[in-house]
Amino acid sequence: HELAVKAGLQYFGTCIGESASQSDTAYMNILSDKREFGQLVPENGQKWDATEGTRGRFTYTQGDISASAARRNGQLLRCHTLVWHSQLPNWVASGSWNRQTLTEVIESHINNVMDHYRGQCLHWDVLNEAVDDNGSYRNSVFYRVFGTDYFPLVFNLAKKADPVTKLYYNDYNLEYNGAKTEKTVELVKIIQAAKAPIEGVGFQAHLIVGTTPNRAQLATVLRRFTSLNLDVAYTELDIRHETMPPNSQALSRQGTDYANVVGSCLDVDRCVGVTVWGYTDKYSWVPGTFPGTGAALLYDDQLRKKAAWTSVSSVL
Ligand code: XIL
Repeated sequence: HELAVKAGLQYFGTCIGESASQSDTAYMNILSDKREFGQLVPENGQKWDATEGTRGRFTYTQGDISASAARRNGQLLRCHTLVWHSQLPNWVASGSWNRQTLTEVIESHINNVMDHYRGQCLHWDVLNEAVDDNGSYRNSVFYRVFGTDYFPLVFNLAKKADPVTKLYYNDYNLEYNGAKTEKTVELVKIIQAAKAPIEGVGFQAHLIVGTTPNRAQLATVLRRFTSLNLDVAYTELDIRHETMPPNSQALSRQGTDYANVVGSCLDVDRCVGVTVWGYTDKYSWVPGTFPGTGAALLYDDQLRKKAAWTSVSSVL
């Protein structure tokens, strides 16, 4: 983070794994070091299933872990996420809604959660993963009820609930500049045409060693969104190995891929910061979600810096 700020970014940050944070002091010590990480985001604690598992009953214990740590350490907080098809409680996902009733549900959720974190979030990921990998809009309860009308709706509701925090759309696989990126440009244009307040696009950047686009390609795709008058950020960066365990050549290639991602953010005026989705291989969602892959982060599972750490610091 210290080097990133000198290089012109607002922050270099990480998500907090809420369960690890309860018991692992060595983990928390590195995460709390502001020279290392200037920004935090809850890995799961602010999601709908964590905050409103039962309709109208709001709980913030999990989300507050990150918010309190950020406050204690003087770190910025990104907030994640309000409207998403996943980690969405059944009462929302399987309810039989019409436009009016689902608007009430979304409005109440956004108002309560944003109100609780008001004044603490630099950004809010208002809408997460509304586009499918094949380049169509994702079939979710929200899309089935509203079609594309829920895109501007959620940004308008978020702006009303907290006029200060910056409002982001956030998604993965935008980095490849393919059909999904095209559709996301269209989504942004729909929101803007409705005069709704979208302010940034988050590139999750869950990438793979060896197939990560190069620095110039990444800068080009970031600029597709900055040219729409938006900020951009890397919000969930990890770069996984598909052959495990990685040899030293693969670890060095991972470093190059990381440097290209961070470098592309330096190259683009309105790329404001980089967040890794966890900092240590000890606690990463990757092996559980993409079986057979792993070692995607900057520190190994013994909390030792990897080649990728050195590579990121050299590009900054
Ligand atoms: C992941 C978490 O890392 C896991 O712990 C959880 O089981 C599932 O969600 N896109 C997102 C993140 O926006 O919230 C997801 O986080 C990873 C993909």
